[in-house]
Amino acid sequence: MGGASPAPLGVFDSGIGGLTVAHALFERLPAESVVYFGDTARVPYGPKSPETVRRYSAEILEYLVGRGVKMVVVACNTSTAQALEHLRACSPVPVVGVIEPGARAAVRASPSGRIGVIGTAGTIASGAYERAIHAVAAGATVHARACPLFVPLVEEGWFDHPATELIAREYLAPLAAAGVDALVLGCTHYPLLKPLLARVMGPGVRLIDSAEETAEAVRQELAARQLLAPAGAAGDHRFVVSDDEPHFRSVGARFLGERLRNVEVVPLG
Ligand code: DGL
Repeated sequence: MGGASPAPLGVFDSGIGGLTVAHALFERLPAESVVYFGDTARVPYGPKSPETVRRYSAEILEYLVGRGVKMVVVACNTSTAQALEHLRACSPVPVVGVIEPGARAAVRASPSGRIGVIGTAGTIASGAYERAIHAVAAGATVHARACPLFVPLVEEGWFDHPATELIAREYLAPLAAAGVDALVLGCTHYPLLKPLLARVMGPGVRLIDSAEETAEAVRQELAARQLLAPAGAAGDHRFVVSDDEPHFRSVGARFLGERLRNVEVVPLG
């Protein structure tokens, strides 16, 4: 496919978790360069008000646009839920979020139309996943549940710990009882809990990882706008954080599955 733009993609998250989306982009689009911004100084976004999440997200958008990105990928579910419309309205480049791709994949994966969604308090309170799912399948029934304890458990590296399993059983019991056959992992951190969540929900439930769906949506959007990197290019990956760079490097390597090089610290706001 003829590529037209060597400019990098901008990807941002409230912190480290968006590296699951970055990882999916690196796999699917190896020719693309990426500037990843993690707002480690102000994480978590999950419990913050919509106004605050919008303000932080707009500051990051401005920073990434200043770095010459050709498209911005909002890897954070909370930010997508609270700020996507606002970012699209003020951005000079296209902005892709994680919720629409995840919703489309969930509808495809759910023959019964009973779909579970888990995410941070902010994402679930926004109702953004319900709206996105109903836009694709008006008759779907959505069972949503905030799982705020999952983010710190994942940051701790407790991906398969008995405490995490106990908490997951408590959070997911109502969704299992409702008979959902697809469960959207509506938070950057949750893909790291996939084996545990699969065990808790049982074999009849498909887990929807927004990271992979989003990477495919980005590929399609770049192709449609003739913005793909020149074929055969080797993508350059840069990481920028607003604070605490050593923590980002060590925990981030677990999210990305590779060592993190090129990490800069740029405080915003
Ligand atoms: N990145 C956030 C999300 O996907 C999770 C961490 C946070 O609360 O900031 O919703």
